[in-house]
Amino acid sequence: MTSFQVTITNTRETFSCRDDTDVLRAMEQLQRKGIPVGCRNGGCGVCKVEVTSGQYAKRKMSRAVLTQEEEERGCVLACKISPLSDLQVQVVGKMVRAVEARKNKTTSFDFGFMATSETSQPGKET
Ligand code: FES
Repeated sequence: MTSFQVTITNTRETFSCRDDTDVLRAMEQLQRKGIPVGCRNGGCGVCKVEVTSGQYAKRKMSRAVLTQEEEERGCVLACKISPLSDLQVQVVGKMVRAVEARKNKTTSFDFGFMATSETSQPGKET
């Protein structure tokens, strides 16, 4: 059993995934409440991602939710792949909204933090 790092390129978040676990299950460990988990069995297409780098083992996926053309450009169903190396994946299916909603929330939090530290500096001069 080996663990690999999986990076979601939409948000630059990284999580670890064992080679005996599917990527969707590992992604859920990010504690993302909005992740829409569907059938977990390659049949609904909700977990579609595009692997932009790395190697993986894949199991049978329904052609009804993943076209030949999509598969040729690296799209897979996260519930049906396990990593064989570190992976970079771009969320392209119905998960995009859940994944990117959190990214926007983080960005505004960072901005607020920067503004606070700038305004508190002059008061510290003595
Ligand atoms: S959860 Fe349904 S295809 Fe992955």
